[in-house]
Amino acid sequence: MKLKHIAQATLAAAGLMLVPLSAMATEVEVLHYWTSGGEAKSAAELKKLMEAKGVSWKDFAVAGGGGENAMTALKARVIAGSAPTAAQIKGPSIQEWGKEGVLANIDAAAKDGKWDASLPKVVSDVMKYKGHYVAVPVNVHRVNWLWVNPEVLKKAGATAPTNFDEFFVAADKIKKAGLIAIAHGGQPWQDATVFESVVLGTGGAAFYQKALVQLDSASLNSPTMIKAFDTLAKIKTYIDKDAAGRDWNLATAMVINGKAGMQFMGDWAKGEFSAAGKQPGKDYLCLPAPGTEKAFTFNIDSLAMFNVKGADQQKAQLTLANAVMSPEFQEVFNLNKGSIPARAGVSRAKFDSCALKSMDDMDATSKSGGLVPSMAHGMAIDSAKAGAIQDVVARFMNSTMTSQAAVQALVKAVKAK
Ligand code: BGC
Repeated sequence: MKLKHIAQATLAAAGLMLVPLSAMATEVEVLHYWTSGGEAKSAAELKKLMEAKGVSWKDFAVAGGGGENAMTALKARVIAGSAPTAAQIKGPSIQEWGKEGVLANIDAAAKDGKWDASLPKVVSDVMKYKGHYVAVPVNVHRVNWLWVNPEVLKKAGATAPTNFDEFFVAADKIKKAGLIAIAHGGQPWQDATVFESVVLGTGGAAFYQKALVQLDSASLNSPTMIKAFDTLAKIKTYIDKDAAGRDWNLATAMVINGKAGMQFMGDWAKGEFSAAGKQPGKDYLCLPAPGTEKAFTFNIDSLAMFNVKGADQQKAQLTLANAVMSPEFQEVFNLNKGSIPARAGVSRAKFDSCALKSMDDMDATSKSGGLVPSMAHGMAIDSAKAGAIQDVVARFMNSTMTSQAAVQALVKAVKAK
């Protein structure tokens, strides 16, 4: 037994737990990376709801789109033995944390709230470790969107694209009109976000599944994958020279204010349009990324629960889990976040046309086989492999690497992990 554990056991036996004073009050500490305008508004709704239930909210927000910085901060806290109550973790990473033995069993909340009956099995399976709930789903984001400013299209004499040929025709016209065709931020996770939509639009959902979920080497090393990199190379030529390091929400702002025409991004971008008071269909368009109309890359945000000490803290944690699963929360959070509720039983009445399209398309693609997990957003493969793919794509975006070389690097990177 390690020293720290002996000390803890002795104190516990004496009825004295090693609980810091600040944690004795009924409080939840939640690690997340919802820091942009639309994201912060959404997170504030959870804080409000918890405070209404008499639980105070300790915000542990770590800026950085895609959550890489947040995961680094989380690892440091868990290693130091002071995990937060909950953290924004998703997909296969929940299993990785489960294996570390640091996640809390929240079956009590799930049983009370009848979660098994209100969640699609694809969602509830991800929330469980060894058959027990350890996480709670917040939403479903769709990643394969193209956000478009219709005013920019009009100025350029362009029309909304449905496939890559039309996309490049529109991009050329926007460029000729003196505007930026594609708003992008040169960060590896944003590069990977564009890449997966291009793979989906080039090869379709079955190819995407084989290549980016099953990591089948014949699919990775195929003419279709070369074609996808060729398309990505062409996309690069429509991105402005100041894109390096730009945050995703600043790229969205360029579409909002008419400096740029289009952005590939998941529907957290819609949270930015909504926060700026913009209306879908009028001020902006949400289109499936070129060639991906019949597919849906899903990205489910969830809060994983960590082992906490003391009955009060455990009770507060279950209150948090129940609050997240409540239809009221799932409605208000997702209205702000741009996503759709993860659970059944939430009214569609207040959702806009983009959200309704997302709900309908998710339903249709779950039947047609077009529903696939987002690789770029940690839903498809373990974090080491996803990181290796992301590195290759980022190298491709920032160099003159050929498509052939990128495909070779991809096959090698996936094998090495
Ligand atoms: C998360 C979203 C978040 C986005 C930008 C995605 O991976 O799922 O909740 O808004 O990254 O940070």
